[in-house]
Amino acid sequence: MMSTQVWFLLFIVNLLSLQLSLCQELQSEADSSNVLPGNHTLNLSRKLLQFIQSDLKNMTHLKVLDAVLKKHVGPLSTVQKLDLSGNGLYTDMIGYLLRDAPALTNLSLNENSITKIGNGTFSGSPSLRNIDLHNNVILEIEEGTFDSLLNLTELDLSVNSISCITDFNLFQLRSLNLSKNSMTSFQSIDSNQEFELLYLDLRENKMHYFPVLPKRNKIIYLDLSRNQLHSLNSTGPDDELQYLRDIEGLNFSPLRSSKTHQLLPRLLYLDLSYNQLKAVPPDFFSSLWALDTLNISNNCLDNFVVDTEGPLNVLKTLDLSFNNLQNLTFKENTLWALETLYLQGNILSMLDSGLFRLPSITNLHLQLNELSICGPQQNQTSSCVSLFSIPTLRYLYLSENKMTSLPAHAFQGSPLLILDLSLNPNMKISEQALSGLERSLTHLYLRGNHLEKLNINLTALRSLKVLDLYNNQLDGLFLGSRNSAIENLNLQNNKVKILDASTVLALEKTLRTLYLGSNPLICCENIHLISLIQQAHMDTDNATCQNTRDAGCGEVNLRDVKSEHCETLNSKVLVIAMIAVLVLGLMIVLLVVLKLCHSRSHRFSNSYKA
Ligand SMILES: *[C@@H]1O[C@H](CO)[C@@H](O)[C@H](O)[C@H]1NC(C)=O
Ligand SMILES: *[C@@H]1O[C@H](CO)[C@@H](O)[C@H](O)[C@H]1NC(C)=O
Ligand SMILES: *[C@@H]1O[C@H](CO)[C@@H](O)[C@H](O)[C@H]1NC(C)=O
Ligand SMILES: *[C@@H]1O[C@H](CO)[C@@H](O)[C@H](O)[C@H]1NC(C)=O
Ligand SMILES: *[C@@H]1O[C@H](CO)[C@@H](O)[C@H](O)[C@H]1NC(C)=O
Ligand SMILES: *[C@@H]1O[C@H](CO)[C@@H](O)[C@H](O)[C@H]1NC(C)=O
Ligand SMILES: *[C@@H]1O[C@H](CO)[C@@H](O)[C@H](O)[C@H]1NC(C)=O
Ligand SMILES: *[C@@H]1O[C@H](CO)[C@@H](O)[C@H](O)[C@H]1NC(C)=O
Ligand SMILES: *[C@@H]1O[C@H](CO)[C@@H](O)[C@H](O)[C@H]1NC(C)=O
Ligand SMILES: *[C@@H]1O[C@H](CO)[C@@H](O)[C@H](O)[C@H]1NC(C)=O
Ligand SMILES: *[C@@H]1O[C@H](CO)[C@@H](O)[C@H](O)[C@H]1NC(C)=O
Ligand SMILES: *[C@@H]1O[C@H](CO)[C@@H](O)[C@H](O)[C@H]1NC(C)=O
Repeated sequence: MMSTQVWFLLFIVNLLSLQLSLCQELQSEADSSNVLPGNHTLNLSRKLLQFIQSDLKNMTHLKVLDAVLKKHVGPLSTVQKLDLSGNGLYTDMIGYLLRDAPALTNLSLNENSITKIGNGTFSGSPSLRNIDLHNNVILEIEEGTFDSLLNLTELDLSVNSISCITDFNLFQLRSLNLSKNSMTSFQSIDSNQEFELLYLDLRENKMHYFPVLPKRNKIIYLDLSRNQLHSLNSTGPDDELQYLRDIEGLNFSPLRSSKTHQLLPRLLYLDLSYNQLKAVPPDFFSSLWALDTLNISNNCLDNFVVDTEGPLNVLKTLDLSFNNLQNLTFKENTLWALETLYLQGNILSMLDSGLFRLPSITNLHLQLNELSICGPQQNQTSSCVSLFSIPTLRYLYLSENKMTSLPAHAFQGSPLLILDLSLNPNMKISEQALSGLERSLTHLYLRGNHLEKLNINLTALRSLKVLDLYNNQLDGLFLGSRNSAIENLNLQNNKVKILDASTVLALEKTLRTLYLGSNPLICCENIHLISLIQQAHMDTDNATCQNTRDAGCGEVNLRDVKSEHCETLNSKVLVIAMIAVLVLGLMIVLLVVLKLCHSRSHRFSNSYKA
């Protein structure tokens, strides 16, 4: 243990270094009115330093902290909740501050400079229930530190430098946060007593192996994301024997040695994302009877199997995105409750037909794979996947699959609300591809598909609210004469010169957002469109049109086009034409009159001659 002088000197050094940065921001905060006698809550967050600072000038002996506490804080004997966060406190000051705090239940020590917690630290505060030590630099916790805290239920040690926990034995603890440390291993003591632990957060550490969890546990939440797990074994092959000795005693049998997976019967949430897992053995799931959410995204899986040994029959969400999956096998009578399946970012070119037996599947993310789609007329072969007749399916994402065609009735019997087919350039869409979706489909995404013509019957899609055709080569859009339900239309980056008056009319009642930028629109040919866009409630991009009549004027924002401008042009032409006709008429009349006069005078002269 450091001597009082040493820690105090360290404290002063720390104080002086922090002083500069903190003093300005603290100046306004300083107010000892926060410290009320008899108040059971004491919030000294970022205040202690300042109190000490104000007394620094007449500091003559090492008892200054004591003096400061007496003067500004008073005894802690009745305080129940104490916030000492952000005070630059050092290791040994904690025990000193807490030496007589028998009523203390909640303690915040986050954002200090604690490097070690000694096993005497909390001996003066036996009632603690909740300790927050997050964001310190803790490297070491002495054996037995928390043993005397029989009511301790929450311990937050996140954002520290702890490298391992051996012999975890806090039976009564409910929540343990060790995220953002340097943990390479976590081992519980071998005991048949039940642990109360519910939440264990080990996110962002350096774990190579699955933690050794209490044999009898109630854990519901386990986060192991962003570690370095290569397998789900609790120990490496070298340690295996030792591990089995530890766990099972010396009299283990070779048969039992294959059971390296642990019982987690209450686990609801398991996050294994961002690790280096190559495989997940199906028997790993055999004790996960309650699992609701499983995330294994961003690993290196090339195969994934769920079989009847671990059927995961209450699992609702499964995330396998961004792996190297080529193969996916769901055996019969598994995954009964699965609603959302993330498979994007794999190299799937086929899907096991088990997928279509999933009785609850609602939400299927298949983007960024190499799938092609079968129609009901084709039999599913290894070269395509059937997505029709899945009566629970509502959301389907198929963008970026390099699909070349979409056959007729591809989704018949799957009542989709949202369908994303974007970024499958040059995909040939059958005219009947979306048949069966007439009543259900509300969102259709066809971005970046190089479409020159949209041959699906949009009029038939009665519920369609969002239509995204961004970045294609369409020269128009035909919606028929019926009112459409479309509220949001994106036609940016196409080749539309004229948007049909009947289309505008069909959109008029419901449309709220219209994006038309980067199209060669012609201003005076789009009078209906312009008056639609100029309605106050319409949300648009700053689309422009070309003003061909006024040569040289170029692009005009659709919102700025005055329809009178086009009308004036028209009426000018009309006037000129009328004048021309009039002039022409007059000339003809004049000519006729002249002719008549001429012939009469001729006759007259004749007669005169005669
Ligand atoms: C106790 O002090 C806190 C601030 O530290 C204050 O918010 C609270 O109102 C006080 N409670 C009583 C009962 O004085
Ligand atoms: C103490 O006060 C700080 C701000 O001054 C606040 O962020 C913190 O939540 C408070 N602590 C408690 C336990 O109320
Ligand atoms: C520091 O000096 C001021 C007056 O200069 C005095 O009021 C205060 O009590 C002194 N503090 C201590 C801790 O002695
Ligand atoms: C622990 O909590 C119980 C129930 O709230 C209480 O009776 C007991 O006094 C507490 N123990 C300590 C050491 O504070
Ligand atoms: C005090 O601790 C208890 C038990 O851990 C917790 O439920 C409660 O929210 C905490 N109160 C405060 C103000 O932090
Ligand atoms: C406290 O820690 C020291 C050193 O790690 C150890 O020798 C001692 O047995 C511990 N005390 C208790 C009560 O665990
Ligand atoms: C653990 O702490 C981290 C960082 O302080 C926080 O983001 C996370 O939500 C905590 N985990 C749990 C389960 O509360
Ligand atoms: C995991 O444990 C099993 C069974 O003991 C063993 O066959 C396998 O090689 C282990 N995997 C790794 C990566 O250690
Ligand atoms: C996919 O899995 C099945 C059965 O699990 C196997 O027969 C087949 O060879 C696998 N295919 C690939 C490409 O790995
Ligand atoms: C599809 O398979 C069924 C039997 O498995 C067969 O009767 C039918 O002719 C096949 N259809 C096509 C288009 O190959
Ligand atoms: C498109 O669908 C509408 C409404 O179902 C129907 O009246 C129309 O005939 C269809 N048009 C074509 C070209 O199939
Ligand atoms: C349209 O232009 C205005 C002003 O130039 C800009 O503030 C606004 O963000 C633009 N809107 C869009 C959708 O680009």
